[in-house]
Amino acid sequence: MEGVIDAHARALLTTRPGFDWAVTEFVRVVDARLPPRVFYKHCPELIHAPAATPNGTPVHLQLLGSDPEALAANAHQALKLNATCLDLNFGCPAKTVNRHDGGASLLRDPRRVEGAVSAVHTALAGAIPVTAKIRLGFSDRRLALDCAKAAEAGGAAHLVVHGRTRDEGYRPPAHWEWIARIRQALHIPVIVNGDIWSLEDYWRARSLSGCEDAMLGRGALADPLLACRIRHWQSTGERLPATTWQVRAEILTAYAALQRITLPERVVVSLLKQWLNHMRARHEQAGQRFTLLRRVTQLDSFLEGLTTTLDTA
Ligand SMILES: Cc1cc2nc3c(=O)[nH]c(=O)nc-3n(C[C@H](O)[C@H](O)[C@H](O)COP(=O)(O)O)c2cc1C
Repeated sequence: MEGVIDAHARALLTTRPGFDWAVTEFVRVVDARLPPRVFYKHCPELIHAPAATPNGTPVHLQLLGSDPEALAANAHQALKLNATCLDLNFGCPAKTVNRHDGGASLLRDPRRVEGAVSAVHTALAGAIPVTAKIRLGFSDRRLALDCAKAAEAGGAAHLVVHGRTRDEGYRPPAHWEWIARIRQALHIPVIVNGDIWSLEDYWRARSLSGCEDAMLGRGALADPLLACRIRHWQSTGERLPATTWQVRAEILTAYAALQRITLPERVVVSLLKQWLNHMRARHEQAGQRFTLLRRVTQLDSFLEGLTTTLDTA
C-alpha cells in the first residue's frame, strides 16, 4: 500500500505466520525503463534474492502503468533484478494517477487491460508469473467481467479483485458477491479483497465470493494479527484471542526502531500516527492513544506515550 506498507511494515506484519505473500507499493511506470535504484527503493527485499521478508514470506513487485511497451521494458528490468512475481495495478483510484492514464483508468477499456498484461507476460517469457489486481470497474460494473477475462487472456496467473468501482473509492460495502461472478467465469485463482477487518468479515467475504483466498489491506494495519488469526482458524477451526494493546504497541515501537535508522524523527512520528490512525476505529485503546498523542511531534515522547498507563478515571 503506497505510502503505508513499506519493507519495514511488511517485515513486521509477516513476523507471525499468516501471509502467503506480500506485495510492494506500486512502482509507477510512465514511458522509460526505470533504473535499478527505483526497484530497490520500492522493494529492498530484492537485494537478497529471492525477494522475501525476514521470515521468508515472498514479496511480489507491483507495477502501475498503461503503456504496454514501457511495462514490458520494466518487467524485463525487474526480472534482471531477480523479482519472482510481478503484479499489475489496475485498481488505483487516485485522481493524479487516473488523469495520467494509470491504475483504474484502464478498466474503461478491457482491451487495454489485456494489452498491458500480455505485454508483461511476453516480456517475462514464462520465467516468472505476472498477476493482476482490478476493481469492479471505473464508474460502474458493466465491464467487470470483461476486464477480469481480459487479465486472464493476457496471461495473468491470478487476479485480485477489490469489490468496488473506482468511483466508489473506499466507501463500504465491498461487493464480495460480485466477485463470485468473476470467480465463476475465470479459470485462474481469484482473490477477494476489500473491507476484510475481522475473522467474521473473512468468513462472509469467503462465502459470498466463493474465493478461498483473501487479500488484506487496511485490515492488516488495523489488526496486525488478522492474517495470523485467519490462518489459525483455517488450520484449527479455533479463534485466537483479540490482539491486545501491548502487542500493538510492541509492533509500533519496533516499526519506529526500524524507520528511525534512515528517516528524520518527525517523519517517523507521522508514520506512527498514520498506522495508529488505521488501528483506532477498531480498537478502543488505540483510539485513546491516538487522541493523547495526536499533537506530539517528538519521537521519544510519542514512544513513551504508547506504553504509559492511561488515566481512565
Ligand atoms: C493508502 C492506501 C494505499 C494503497 N496503495 C496500494 C498500492 O500501492 N497497490 C495496490 O494494489 N493497492 C493499494 N491500495 C489498495 C489496497 O491494496 C486495497 O485494495 C484496498 O484498500 C481495499 O482493501 P482493504 O479494504 O482491505 O484495505 C491502497 C489503499 C490505501 C488506503
